[in-house]
Amino acid sequence: MAIERTFVMIKPDAVERKLIGEIISRFERKNLKIVAMKLIKMTKEQAKELYIPHKDKPFYNDLVNFATRGPVVVMVLEGDSAVEVVRTLIGSTDGRKALPGTIRGDFALDIQENVIHASDSKESYEREHKIFFLESELLKY
Ligand code: PPS
Repeated sequence: MAIERTFVMIKPDAVERKLIGEIISRFERKNLKIVAMKLIKMTKEQAKELYIPHKDKPFYNDLVNFATRGPVVVMVLEGDSAVEVVRTLIGSTDGRKALPGTIRGDFALDIQENVIHASDSKESYEREHKIFFLESELLKY
């Protein structure tokens, strides 16, 4: 058993579409533990930092503008192999290709407005969650 943590962000399109409860319930049903969670309006600086690995891609500015257009829910989930399990639950990046039964497969039809973001590795988790959470905000229970 490898208990891990991963960072998840419910994107502005999903908050606008009132999908927060639907998405969180999928993580809870899978028995992942929410160890931190908040509804925030991200700053441009936070969005730029989150998406820094894509800074040279043509969609970087669009992605930053999208991520800051409305509230998002940021959270840290914990569980066995959480990084990989959550990536499987959310499905492929492109909503058109994501399989039915995954979060993006069921709710997204776009590559940018694709409802949810999750860390793609333990290293990404370490970098990403620190943009939004203090260590003291990660609850032990
Ligand atoms: S890539 O291109 O392989 O790095 O793509 P990926 O890692 O799957 O996606 C990273 C995030 O970039 C967004 N993305 C895009 N936005 C707009 N246009 C295009 N073409 C595009 N390709 C990827 C995608 O929504 C991913 O956001 P997150 O929040 O990480 O899911």
